[in-house]
Amino acid sequence: MNLNMSGKRALVSGGLSTLGRAVVHTLATEGVEILFTYRSEGKAEEARELCRSISQSYDVYCNAVCLDFLSASSISAALSEVAAIFPTLDILIHNAGVFTLNTQSSLTEKQWDEVMDVNIKGFWRLIKGVDPLLKSPHGAVVAVSSINAERPGFGLTAHYDASKGAVSAYIRSLAAEFSPRKIRVNGVAPGLLYRENLIQENPSLVDTYVQRSLTSSLVDVQSVSSMVVYLASSAASAITGEIVTIDGGYSLT
Ligand SMILES: NC(=O)c1ccc[n+]([C@@H]2O[C@H](COP(=O)([O-])OP(=O)(O)OC[C@H]3O[C@@H](n4cnc5c(N)ncnc54)[C@H](OP(=O)(O)O)[C@@H]3O)[C@@H](O)[C@H]2O)c1
Repeated sequence: MNLNMSGKRALVSGGLSTLGRAVVHTLATEGVEILFTYRSEGKAEEARELCRSISQSYDVYCNAVCLDFLSASSISAALSEVAAIFPTLDILIHNAGVFTLNTQSSLTEKQWDEVMDVNIKGFWRLIKGVDPLLKSPHGAVVAVSSINAERPGFGLTAHYDASKGAVSAYIRSLAAEFSPRKIRVNGVAPGLLYRENLIQENPSLVDTYVQRSLTSSLVDVQSVSSMVVYLASSAASAITGEIVTIDGGYSLT
């Protein structure tokens, strides 16, 4: 399918994450110009390396800005940089997210705030910051929620699940608010993503997931990034306020 996205401009939060990298690659294959965020200066070289590799492999513009969702000054500096580089934006993708495993009694207030500040307040801050840049008509916002938003998670994740529940609700309400400007807002709700070392890190979680999923597998990251990019494209012009579950049928069992 030709998504007809060449020359469009996208901002992606959390571009160095497992899913963020896949989204950046998929956007680049469609000829989209990309700005992605990374959290700290300690990752600046990694970000530059990804930009170099994207620009060389796909011959598209790719740049990165440092943005820490826990710092109001970092966010405002980053959003000024974004506006200077991309005075208009076709696509915003909020992918950055924090996931921790805790019982609710052991979770500290700082940990609760971090999950909320990145996952949901960060989404609002991005929306507020890029609102004047977003193309109207034809702008598109896509956010990464989780299957945990709609059903109990894997245990020890009530705080994360609450933050993603808020992300999903925000997506639907924002779609309604932005509809007069013809800016679409959608989301994806992935199940457990396949990534290197996950089996060694958490074998019981992987086992439980694989046994319950209808595809007997973890979720392929490319399936999610392809859906994110499709939702951001004009091929999805009739879709807004939707959250697409991508979990290999895990939620059905
Ligand atoms: N992994 C899964 O199985 C799964 C399942 C469902 C949904 N999701 C969602 O999918 C998205 C991507 O997941 P992932 O597993 O690919 O992510 P990940 O590898 O765990 O990376 C987390 C991302 O969030 C960014 N981030 C964390 N704290 C931040 C902060 N304070 N300020 C700015 N950025 C911050 C990180 O930036 P740096 O890399 O620069 O530190 C990184 O890009 C998340 O929203 C996650 O909740 C994941």
